[in-house]
Amino acid sequence: MRMKISEVQAEIIRLKKERGICILAHSYQAREIIEIADFTGDSFQLSLAAAENTTEEQKIVLMCGVRFMAETVKILSPEKTVFLANPEAGCPMAEQMDKELVEAVKIEYPGYTVVAYINTTAELKTVCDVCVTSSSAVKIVGKIENDNILFLPDCNLGAYVAEKLPHKNIKLLQGGCPIHAVVDVNDVKRAQSAYPKAKLLVHPECVPAVVSLADYAGSTSGIIEHAIKSEIKEFLIGTEMSIAEHLQYLCPDKKFYCLSQKLLCPNMKVTTLVDVLNCVRGTGGEEIVMDSVTIAKAKVCIDEMIKLNR
Ligand code: 13P
Ligand code: SF4
Repeated sequence: MRMKISEVQAEIIRLKKERGICILAHSYQAREIIEIADFTGDSFQLSLAAAENTTEEQKIVLMCGVRFMAETVKILSPEKTVFLANPEAGCPMAEQMDKELVEAVKIEYPGYTVVAYINTTAELKTVCDVCVTSSSAVKIVGKIENDNILFLPDCNLGAYVAEKLPHKNIKLLQGGCPIHAVVDVNDVKRAQSAYPKAKLLVHPECVPAVVSLADYAGSTSGIIEHAIKSEIKEFLIGTEMSIAEHLQYLCPDKKFYCLSQKLLCPNMKVTTLVDVLNCVRGTGGEEIVMDSVTIAKAKVCIDEMIKLNR
């Protein structure tokens, strides 16, 4: 029998309550998934939500996002059963560097504090000192006592941090987000000539030349909050295009334009509402299984981020 979106959503809501499932959705997820989630937000907010805000009855956490996000939930809440809604949802940036490469670079830079963007695998986190997210990177790197920092994998976020903290000696590794990194100054010029009144809000995963033209740079949640609070009525959104769409629902009196059509993350789009339905029915998704040594080692890096973010 055919089902409407609203009927699928109602069934998900019924089953998640019945089965004690907490649904987390990253802000890049489709609107119909955001609507049925218990928590939505940026990478940092989601990692804390599972650890701090789930109820006793919620023994299962379902991540609608990409694999490293589900791994982060498992690391912070190993007693919970954690599922990734669609097993195909990876993050190419998180796969760019492996443990062996980082261990080799560490030998070249002895005495450096290794800072890993949260968009890394659990395995990679085991050889890093502290994690950061886009919303916490400047604050956390600023609080690290050591001025010698090895920042990986995103050289654009790293360059943004280095620009804000000029007293730090930050060595960048050449990784990054294949979606944000391809937006260039010509895209900005094109969009600004089409929408001359719009303010430009961008994610720091964009290249420094684009970030330098922005009126505001910040995480997905930072961009959303900035647009909601602002008196301005028109915005160009320089991050995954779902954010412009969500903002249109959140602020119907304002106008939001996507900075570039290149800003579409296929990995974030692969999860569908039906995937979520199958997961809450117990017939879909992938359970995140990790050995206790990896969990313990990767947790050191994430705990340090939480401590330094206070
Ligand atoms: P946020 O931490 O800003 O949500 O970013 C996650 C991400 O994957 C950006 O591309
Ligand atoms: Fe990864 Fe970029 Fe997609 Fe974010 S937008 S999940 S960093 S590929």
